[in-house]
Amino acid sequence: MIRTLWNGIAATRLQSADGASALIADHGAHLLSWIPAGGAETLFLSGHTRFGENDAIRGGVPIIFPQFGERGNGVRHGFARTCGWRLDFAGTKEEQTLARYVLTDTDTKNLAWPHRYRLTYEVAIGGQQLQLRLTVQNPSDTTWQFNAALHTYLRVQDIAAVSVDGLRKVSYIDQVRNGDRAVQADAPLCFGGEVDRIYVGTPDTVQLRDVGRMITSDQLGFPDTVVWNPGAQKAALLSDLTPGAHASFVCMEAAAVELGIALAPGESWRGEQILTLHGDEAPQR
Ligand code: BG6
Repeated sequence: MIRTLWNGIAATRLQSADGASALIADHGAHLLSWIPAGGAETLFLSGHTRFGENDAIRGGVPIIFPQFGERGNGVRHGFARTCGWRLDFAGTKEEQTLARYVLTDTDTKNLAWPHRYRLTYEVAIGGQQLQLRLTVQNPSDTTWQFNAALHTYLRVQDIAAVSVDGLRKVSYIDQVRNGDRAVQADAPLCFGGEVDRIYVGTPDTVQLRDVGRMITSDQLGFPDTVVWNPGAQKAALLSDLTPGAHASFVCMEAAAVELGIALAPGESWRGEQILTLHGDEAPQR
């Protein structure tokens, strides 16, 4: 484990014995890079991202908590992605190379969200796999609800050649069409423009096929999956993306969006996203 600086932000670099690596910024406990053993970068990170104290980093894996998008009274996609998290552990534990970050209500005073909470986030790497584990605890004496997501930006060679499978016949909320409900066809999802869908009650495994490789995303605890690509027109309006960058990523988000998760006093919840890289797969359309 090495403590380092990334564009002036304190960060942790992990390196496993088999050569996998990851870089995590303290700001948002934001995973910026994941390189599997013997492989290349798998995450997209915008060349025009902002680095300010109140900015959300564009790319990597933002942590969305306690609200998703505009579905609440707080800041868009919640405050967790713009807070400074505390590094609790980094190193090897039970044969896993991991970093653990913590955020509690005492770290984030004066928020519009008035509850006592404790978030623990673990990033574990090794071989061709990345494990992301978010635990939400309620140490207070009242019940509260939250939404959450791991907003994973996967780097792709060309969006036009990408397909996402595992969501056939699953119902979704189409955020491009005023939140209308629709059902995924009995076919993989392809990208010919803006896609912004909250798949509800999804299977545990989703596959992304790109030129010459496949990544599987397994999720535990998270009931929904968000798939987002802004398409060329919407991307041109996002000043923290370089021109044409929408062609280089797909967000596959393990999420709890449609129904809030309620935590009674003393309860905790855990959600995981596990990404596995499978090389040399012929793209299937
Ligand atoms: C996705 C949402 O999760 O995040 C999209 O479904 C949104 O609607 C996207 O545009 C990016 O959000 P932000 O706040 O990071 O620009």
